[in-house]
Amino acid sequence: MSKQVDNSNPERKIFLRNKFIEKSDSVLDLFCGNGIIYKSCYSENKYFGVDKNKVHNNSICVISDNKQFIRSNDVSEYDIFDLDDYGCPYFIMTMILKKLSPINKTYKFFITDGSILHYNLSGKFDGIIQKSEKLTAKSKIKFAGRFTIDVFLSFLNKSSISLSFVLTNIYYIFNSKHSVCYMYFSISPEPKGRHE
Ligand SMILES: C[S@@+](CC[C@H](N)C(=O)[O-])C[C@H]1O[C@@H](n2cnc3c(N)ncnc32)[C@H](O)[C@@H]1O
Repeated sequence: MSKQVDNSNPERKIFLRNKFIEKSDSVLDLFCGNGIIYKSCYSENKYFGVDKNKVHNNSICVISDNKQFIRSNDVSEYDIFDLDDYGCPYFIMTMILKKLSPINKTYKFFITDGSILHYNLSGKFDGIIQKSEKLTAKSKIKFAGRFTIDVFLSFLNKSSISLSFVLTNIYYIFNSKHSVCYMYFSISPEPKGRHE
């Protein structure tokens, strides 16, 4: 089995975050690890880190499974959710979106999305995506890895309809091997009377 690397393209992840964060943003870093991103992006922000294996500063981080952390804490006061997963953090992203609902301010998300790699290795999309997009493990799509962004956007659009928010910004870049996508998106409350 190949060894998981915490930060294969840290400069791209850092570039993405520094493009969109503001000093006033309060950050919940749910895969904080050794804090490479914290040190380059968030050291001047209000910040809390969570990781199930290792943390970079015990006074501002906790060792915990991030899903457990989301279940047990009110996270609505944060502005940024950083999901720098090894794989595809769709499940925890959905947990957060549901927990924030009804959304009453703008939230920003940074996602490390390994769907292309996941699809190339396993021949299927992540379980939650399969269910939402009605793609079974047997759905064989030629060059599916090229469409992971479209699949993700469709998934996010469905979430925005069911949870009544508006997707206000999206930006993404790939790693040098084009196997992992670094994504940013923001969501805002749906304008009042939109569906009246
Ligand atoms: C890509 S690394 C994160 C690197 C980190 N963002 C940094 O700047 O150094 C992924 C991290 O996710 C953590 N992790 C994986 N699954 C987790 C879970 N369910 N709950 C909390 N942390 C998890 C791993 O321990 C690992 O440190």
